[in-house]
Amino acid sequence: MKQQLETIKETAKKAILECENERAIEEIRVKYLGKKGELTAILKQMGSLSAEERPVMGQLVNEAKQKLEELISQKSNELKAKATELKLKAETVDITMPAKVKKQGKLHPLNTVLNDMIDIFQSMGFDVLDGPEVETDHYNFECLNVPADHPARDMQDTFYLGENLLLRTQTSAAQIRTMETRKPPIRVICPGRVFRADEVDATHSPVFHQIEGLVVDKGITMCDLKGVLEQFAREIYGPDTKVKFRPSFFPFTEPSVEVDVTCSKCSGGGCRVCKGSGWIEILGAGMVHPNVLRSCGIDPDVYSGFAFGIGLDRLTTTRYKISDIRLLFENDKRFLEQF
Ligand code: DAH
Repeated sequence: MKQQLETIKETAKKAILECENERAIEEIRVKYLGKKGELTAILKQMGSLSAEERPVMGQLVNEAKQKLEELISQKSNELKAKATELKLKAETVDITMPAKVKKQGKLHPLNTVLNDMIDIFQSMGFDVLDGPEVETDHYNFECLNVPADHPARDMQDTFYLGENLLLRTQTSAAQIRTMETRKPPIRVICPGRVFRADEVDATHSPVFHQIEGLVVDKGITMCDLKGVLEQFAREIYGPDTKVKFRPSFFPFTEPSVEVDVTCSKCSGGGCRVCKGSGWIEILGAGMVHPNVLRSCGIDPDVYSGFAFGIGLDRLTTTRYKISDIRLLFENDKRFLEQF
């Protein structure tokens, strides 16, 4: 029996040391120390021993049991520690690893400039209105004092969709819609896309953007026009910007002006951007023609007003020193990501 006990002890010890996981250790515990285990079986044979042998053997079995229990718990702790270590290692966060860069969308430069312009005009009390891109001849030309034989109506300039339907060639059409629906005092801007059958090149595109402005009230004069547009130019181009008003002609304004600002690239010295002149033309404007007021049911003897049309694309290319207007429409991400 003693020999049997020795063998059990040795094989159990070996098996415990070779264990690789907790389940295997548990199996060994059951195999040797469980109710039907090998050591328990020996204890059950004790009855066959003599009265002298019994306590000696009993002690030996108990010692062996204790030893195995000790080994099992030792090994089990070891395995547990090892498992925890492995788990921690697998879950380690390497805080020195560079973070993943999340790409964030940005505003298109045209939108950035438009938002700035809207802020400027809103701070001067202007409302922002919208107008349709598909217009009738009536709003785009007729009411704006552009007679039927005016060259602007030429098929080469205007995209016609039907006899009287066209893609608006100017946001000025929104002036008429505004005056039809609002009564003075009127102070609005109408930003939007306009369309002309132009050949595409570095400075021309068949689609471009304008911001129309309209002020109508009693006693509005050219001084109001100058004040508003000078303030606008200084806020967009900086406080030292000089503004020049040149006489011009538009069918829907009288008198009419074109407005230049000192070139933001060379500050007026002359460079490629301003073609050596030191000035950049940014808008057309004038006092609303009495015929236009009349066509909208506003009495020109009581009310007067001024209007202006700003080219958003030109403003954007000069502000960001963009050499080709086509870049604004191609949506090349490498270009857009620079802003
Ligand atoms: N509609 C003109 C154009 O497209 C720009 C313009 C000039 C608008 C004078 C105006 C204005 O409101 O008063 O060239």
